[in-house]
Amino acid sequence: MTEKRAQFATRLGVIATTVGSAVGLGNIWRFPFEAGVHGGGAFLLIDLFFIFIIGVPVVCAEFIIGRHTGLNVRGAFRVLAPGKPWGIVGYLGIIASILILSFYSVVAGWTLEYIYQSLTGFGGVSSIAGLHSQFDGFATSNWRPAMWTLIFLAINYFILARGVQKGIEKMSNIMMPLLFVILIVFCINSLRMPGAAEGLSFLFKPDFSQVTPSVMLGAMGQAFFSLSLGLGCLITYSSYFKQETPLLRTAGIMASLDTLVAILAGIIIFPAVFTFGMEPAAGPKLVFEILPSIFMRMPGSMLWSVLFFILLFLASLSSTISMSEITIAYMTDEFGFSRRKATGCNIVVAMVLGTLCALSFGMISDWTVCGLTLFNLFDYLSSNIILPIGGMIISVFVGWVLDRSVVRRELMTDDGSVRPWMIRLVTICLRYIAPACIGLVFLFGLGLW
Ligand code: PFF
Repeated sequence: MTEKRAQFATRLGVIATTVGSAVGLGNIWRFPFEAGVHGGGAFLLIDLFFIFIIGVPVVCAEFIIGRHTGLNVRGAFRVLAPGKPWGIVGYLGIIASILILSFYSVVAGWTLEYIYQSLTGFGGVSSIAGLHSQFDGFATSNWRPAMWTLIFLAINYFILARGVQKGIEKMSNIMMPLLFVILIVFCINSLRMPGAAEGLSFLFKPDFSQVTPSVMLGAMGQAFFSLSLGLGCLITYSSYFKQETPLLRTAGIMASLDTLVAILAGIIIFPAVFTFGMEPAAGPKLVFEILPSIFMRMPGSMLWSVLFFILLFLASLSSTISMSEITIAYMTDEFGFSRRKATGCNIVVAMVLGTLCALSFGMISDWTVCGLTLFNLFDYLSSNIILPIGGMIISVFVGWVLDRSVVRRELMTDDGSVRPWMIRLVTICLRYIAPACIGLVFLFGLGLW
């Protein structure tokens, strides 16, 4: 490479962009609906286990690979293990990123529709039943969801084509703190609802009779998806880190803030679910049906609703930008594509697949594979299968194959805050705990055993 690699300018920028990648629809839309389907408290507990015991060490492993090589996901393995099959993780990551970008953009498109609906007062509809049928009518319609998906992807193109630092970093710095503030306001509002106690007990009281191998698989998928882990997104982002960026601390902060946002989203959604007598297991539409019902009951409802959906849209944008960066860095590093051309290719593919995902709620809802529509298939395949496989390969690679001195050097910080036992702990997780847990969950969750 002749050109100097772009870098994130400040420490705050590093935190804001990695948290910006992690925090998104995965926390506010996917977590509540998955927890709702899988029985609440027990799902949350297993998710936390996967985030902190497996997720944080694997995040560190991606950071080590990315910063050490300063390359994209495929290039990193090409340099670290030339001629060996480890690089397959690079290809899996690129495939997963495109699958996720496609279905994720559909939901991000829903947020755009809801900004519009909030501005126009939801067409005068205010009853809960009316809001439900309005969402159903919208999601199954033939052109509107596809139109918003395409608009969302076009916005991605313009931000991505401007480059790493200017586009991504500036936006994340402003948006993330604002999102936290507004989530806390909504939490306070939900906690004052009549169904608050029931909602909180659903979310926090684990009922282990609900835990099946498929709940474990779902929780593992959720942890990986939420941390943007296992597909090389964090390898790519950390290739833009400076040598001084503290990897362990960044991983810890990222996982903690990510978890906090998911829990806040749960505290917002479940009290409302029980207050309005709704079904927690409603699936992907849960959050979009509940939220407007919550806003309608707040003073100044239009303002809250517009603000919230704008923030949700921006949080989705910082996540889709990070997943697109995987493919863009790959094409620019490996094939010398210009940034614009690489961005264009990535977005065009996502536009085609995204349109199909958008239509899979309506016109092509009968196109199914193993009973899953395209939208659900892309989600299941990427989150529950490809990301954990990628995570397992990455953890085994850093735990067993990568030179120990590289691991130490990357994890150590100059200020002495990283102790040798911390590095030992991360290594043990990467060598034994992560591969064993992921392997076991696969064996049981997929019914292989
Ligand atoms: N972590 C994001 C979320 O929770 O919304 C989703 C995501 C972003 C997945 C980037 C994968 C990725 F590479």
